[in-house]
Amino acid sequence: MNQRPDHTQLTAPDDGIAKGAVLLEVRNVSLAFGGVKAITDISFDVRKGEIRAIIGPNGAGKTSMLNVINGFYTPQQGTIIFRGIERRAMKPHHAVRQGIARTFQNVALFKGMSTLENIMAGRSVMMKRGIGWQMLWHGPALAEEIEHREKVEEIIDFLEIQHIRHIPVGKLPYGLQKRVELGRALAMEPSLLLLDEPMAGMNLEEKEDMSRFIIDVNQQRGTTIALIEHDMGVVMDLSDRVVVLDYGKKIADGPPDEVKNDQAVIDAYLGVPH
Ligand SMILES: Nc1ncnc2c1ncn2[C@@H]1O[C@H](COP(=O)(O)OP(=O)(O)O)[C@@H](O)[C@H]1O
Ligand SMILES: [Mg+2]
Repeated sequence: MNQRPDHTQLTAPDDGIAKGAVLLEVRNVSLAFGGVKAITDISFDVRKGEIRAIIGPNGAGKTSMLNVINGFYTPQQGTIIFRGIERRAMKPHHAVRQGIARTFQNVALFKGMSTLENIMAGRSVMMKRGIGWQMLWHGPALAEEIEHREKVEEIIDFLEIQHIRHIPVGKLPYGLQKRVELGRALAMEPSLLLLDEPMAGMNLEEKEDMSRFIIDVNQQRGTTIALIEHDMGVVMDLSDRVVVLDYGKKIADGPPDEVKNDQAVIDAYLGVPH
């Protein structure tokens, strides 16, 4: 069968939340590191099917917020409600199992491993049976292995990275490393995808490619996306709603056009170089 895979089949798993309903709610979250208040009493939500941007100057608390959402940090106050389940503390691997995957501000891949191996590694968190079972090559394990391989191949095809599948990612240009990292997150089949500055350090062409992939992930797979991004052109183009942080506080929240003209946002962020 040489037919190209139909990418519309690559849908996010059914998380039981209707399109447009609240998928994630961050409620009154505060997080401090010693005396440093990274996040102060922040609340916002992410609705199923949307692209939600998180913007703000360096040190505003954006990355910390993603780390709270995916369980890296436990806030001193407040809760996270994901798919209707409320919690404060959660381990990152539990977050993955519940459908939250992410990429990092500084690419976090296994540099000596190939593109294919890195994406398979993302997939491994989904594997029901342990590696021992895989090795035994038993019927059920074999079927599962084949299914995982098919999903990974679909992602490689979707992201147009066939030509680098066997190259160690440390040897790839930065823009492609970012794409591989997106692939690894997609391999987890998230219902909520968190992207921390997915276009940082990219040239214009790489940014356009990444924008297109983000839109395709959202529209074709139905994946809800929360992304941190500095390029306001990208934010305006991609996002349905924007939350703006400054010094750990939320200073604005709304559609991009509205946020862009908000005086507090202009003063804190848009009017200053970053
Ligand atoms: N692990 C940490 N330990 C101590 N301070 C931290 C840690 N992570 C973040 N911070 C501090 O929290 C604040 C917010 O940082 P961060 O969330 O990385 O901001 P942003 O992503 O918006 O640039 C900064 O003052 C930063 O120095
Ligand atoms: Mg950051």
